[in-house]
Amino acid sequence: MTLNTHYNKPTLVLNNNQKVHGKTAWRSPSNIALIKYWGKKPGQIPCNASLSFTLSEAHTNTYVEYSNRQNQAAWIDFKFEGSPEPTFAAKIEKFFRTIADIFPFLEQLSFKIESDNSFPHSSGIASSASSMSALSLALCSIESALFGTLDSPQEFYKKASYISRIGSGSASRSVYPYLGAWGVTDRIAGSSDLYAVPYVDVHESFLSFHDDVVIVSADKKSVSSTAGHALMNSNPFARTRYEQAKANLSKLVHVMKTGDLTEFGKIVEDEALTLHALMMCSDPSFILMKPKTLECIDRIRRYRAETKAPIYFTLDAGPNVHVLYPEEYANAASAFIATQLEPLAEGGLVIRDQVGKGPMKIESA
Ligand code: PMV
Repeated sequence: MTLNTHYNKPTLVLNNNQKVHGKTAWRSPSNIALIKYWGKKPGQIPCNASLSFTLSEAHTNTYVEYSNRQNQAAWIDFKFEGSPEPTFAAKIEKFFRTIADIFPFLEQLSFKIESDNSFPHSSGIASSASSMSALSLALCSIESALFGTLDSPQEFYKKASYISRIGSGSASRSVYPYLGAWGVTDRIAGSSDLYAVPYVDVHESFLSFHDDVVIVSADKKSVSSTAGHALMNSNPFARTRYEQAKANLSKLVHVMKTGDLTEFGKIVEDEALTLHALMMCSDPSFILMKPKTLECIDRIRRYRAETKAPIYFTLDAGPNVHVLYPEEYANAASAFIATQLEPLAEGGLVIRDQVGKGPMKIESA
């Protein structure tokens, strides 16, 4: 893949005799999209702009140790939660080759990478956003340590977001606190298709919003995101969808400033159901919701109609239900979730999460 980037820097190479050995580690969170990215163009360019809450509890820790590459040693030695993971290692190798024009020094080093997630591996929570952003942040730290570059935080996170995007589109949004926006839109100054930007011009209630994830099924996704995005190329509603996403983003930007929760919920639920509707009418068609997903949605809507509490849902590309509500309703929502939604969850698993402060550098192991 040719990268249309101003980040290609052939000068970021080590001198012949330069001895290097160092460590870095980052914790980076998952995110949940309010306006969904579904459909992309070559080069990992989104067909519409998206906006997400950065989470806090669901995160990946990635520890990277690097030194001069030795011919006989493995280029990348990767362990996930203490055990070798050849499938992930192969993905990382592919990713490193893709970004070799941006970080030419990667090919001069060998790496020991260890990673772990805060959420159970078999919870059905996607880890690509948290893991790709944690790794990209670590690579930017290595660039900075070796070449003295990326010294302004703004430049650092912009590049980390750019690199994350190449690994997994939605990961580009995880590098910012509270909310991230990715994709060009005239509603958000500085927005780009190449990297996400921080988005915090919102009513304060959104900075502490809750997102409790009801694990309806912990099974592995039946459609990968790569295959899912590709289905949009032949989806008969694709054009209408991109217009709808644009209109929804426009409305949401306004609503999040005013703090109008009713409108917020309407847009966010519309986005979730549209994502699934698009999958249902793709060829081949996928139904990722389970009967219990619909039961959760029904109970949330009934509870809201009865109590007027601003409790909403959104969905990722899977069956699990993300329950969104503001901090003032935390007690009421917790009781509702415990009595009415937990019994629908596989093994009673509900992952309690909240909008968070973004990634952080952690102590190297
Ligand atoms: O980043 P990807 O390629 O895994 O795509 C993510 C797509 C959704 O999670 C369904 C929506 C989104 O914007 O996060």
